[in-house]
Amino acid sequence: MYRTHTCGELTLNQVGQTVTLSGWVQKNRLLGGMTFVDLRDRYGITQLVFNMERNAPLCEQANALGREYVIQVKGTVAERTNKNPNIPTGNIEIIADELTLLNTSEVPPFLIENDTDGSEELRLKYRYLDIRRPKLKDVLVKRAQISKAVREYLDAKDFIEIETPNLIKSTPEGARDFLVPSRLVEGSFYALPQSPQILKQLLMVAGMDRYYQIVKCFRDEDFRGDRQPEFTQVDCEMSFVHQEDIFETFGGMVRHVFKKVINYELPELNRLKYDDALRLYGSDKPDLRFDCPIVELNQMLPSSEFAVFNNTIQNGGLVAGLNASGCAAYSRKQLDELTEFVKVSHRGLSGLVNIRFNEDGSVKSSVDKFYTEEQLRLIGTAFNAQKGDLILIAAEKTAKVRKSLGDLRLELAKRNNWIDPNKWSVLWVVDFPLFEQDEETGAITFAHHPFCSPHPEDLQYFDTEPLRVRAQTYDMVMNGNEVLSGSIRIHNHDVQEKVFKSLGLTPEEQEKKFGFMLNAFRYGAPPHGGCAFGLDRVVMLMTGGETIRDTMAFPKTSGGRDLMMDAPTPVDKKQLDELGIATKQ
Ligand code: AMO
Repeated sequence: MYRTHTCGELTLNQVGQTVTLSGWVQKNRLLGGMTFVDLRDRYGITQLVFNMERNAPLCEQANALGREYVIQVKGTVAERTNKNPNIPTGNIEIIADELTLLNTSEVPPFLIENDTDGSEELRLKYRYLDIRRPKLKDVLVKRAQISKAVREYLDAKDFIEIETPNLIKSTPEGARDFLVPSRLVEGSFYALPQSPQILKQLLMVAGMDRYYQIVKCFRDEDFRGDRQPEFTQVDCEMSFVHQEDIFETFGGMVRHVFKKVINYELPELNRLKYDDALRLYGSDKPDLRFDCPIVELNQMLPSSEFAVFNNTIQNGGLVAGLNASGCAAYSRKQLDELTEFVKVSHRGLSGLVNIRFNEDGSVKSSVDKFYTEEQLRLIGTAFNAQKGDLILIAAEKTAKVRKSLGDLRLELAKRNNWIDPNKWSVLWVVDFPLFEQDEETGAITFAHHPFCSPHPEDLQYFDTEPLRVRAQTYDMVMNGNEVLSGSIRIHNHDVQEKVFKSLGLTPEEQEKKFGFMLNAFRYGAPPHGGCAFGLDRVVMLMTGGETIRDTMAFPKTSGGRDLMMDAPTPVDKKQLDELGIATKQ
């Protein structure tokens, strides 16, 4: 038997017992005739003591142990004189009687402790060592607990887990596909699923009623902190449901997971309409752990000669601002930084107007020349401005103002510590538009994917004002991150065809890409809907990770590389020849 206990479980209750432990040497130190070894395994750390007087050869053997050597120790549990209150095993130590070296280790390239000296690149290369660090190991444990709680909840609600294939035909989730060449059908390719979207809908046509799958999805898209090319969804679908059923089921699911995994009572989820989210917070994934809404001023601006505001309104733009509460004393430099923040190209504002409601009761503004103090105070009322507040106002095209102020709102929260780290904001964002327009080309595309059912009330605008048509689509937003998307699907063959047509797909293209699905819809597709959680994002938020890489055992770098396995790599010409793929000379 390699061990009677793990390194994380012995306490004063076992004092006097003979035990055997196995694990890795975290460190060993010599102190006045005694050698202390910290022995680590997945469950924790236990201190071992080797006493020169008691057993000199054994003590010398312990002195010779290097970091990360794998050992087995037999000894007696004893109460510690020098207790360590920071670890569960901190009250005891093992007085060692036997030591077996199970394996040696080279000196690891970085410190295997939470406060490590290894760069992320080095740690990704030696990920198996990185995972020995408690921080990362704990995340993987929590990830497993989250998946378990998800399964528990869905199993109890009669969902069944069904596996769907990974070698399929392209599914339209808006990203590029990873392609897999077929050897047997030369010149043809499978696509790895961007999600099992179509397959889960076909399972509803097949009568499976309630499906889920914790499943890998693959998307060849540009990297960000919250994206990986290969990630995991909790993918779900239900038959005979309306949006309300989905909200109840999956709102219930996150609440169950929170309770089970972090013992947190999440309240019922609030709902926010997409239009309101953009208008009030400049984002379809607002972080509502703090308030600071955008205030629109077009209808209430007092008359003045200030051309920037007047022209913006005349040209159909938006004048709107934020109340940076408590920031009236910001220095010139701080204000300049905020202005630069909204001026960068992807935000594109030309500047910010400020009004300071000073602590001494005075009001000062960058547009003093154009507005009387009384007018400035009137503008202040729209923001409920108090002494000490700073109002920041932008004027530009509506979308730009909203996006910039939405970002500025988050920046202000960061600078002023407005976010309580113990607070959670989890909500539904509902009533997304069915279509969106590409800003550059003007082309109309689907906002989510082309299987979302239009809002029945909006079908009248389908041909005339498509951008006005709302979809029965919803997102779940957690602390400002989109963690779930879903919709009630189209289950009617003709409506699905109509949507494809409005996206510019000819009948031939429809047949080529989605013929199998349209065909299935001829055989009694039930009304159905569903959603998919981004499991990695949920884990990231529930474990306080900064990037999605912190949530997976073997992630890819932001450049899409696996540094440990060294992938992707070129392959032999022979292999390419077999696949009928020509190589560049
Ligand atoms: P969607 O594309 O919105 O919807 O994805 C659902 C959720 O998956 C997560 N996610 C990602 N996580 C990490 N890396 C990525 N590259 C990545 N892309 C998406 C997000 C997102 O909310 N088939 C639909 C769902 C449905 O309609 O049922 C779908 O895949 O958290």
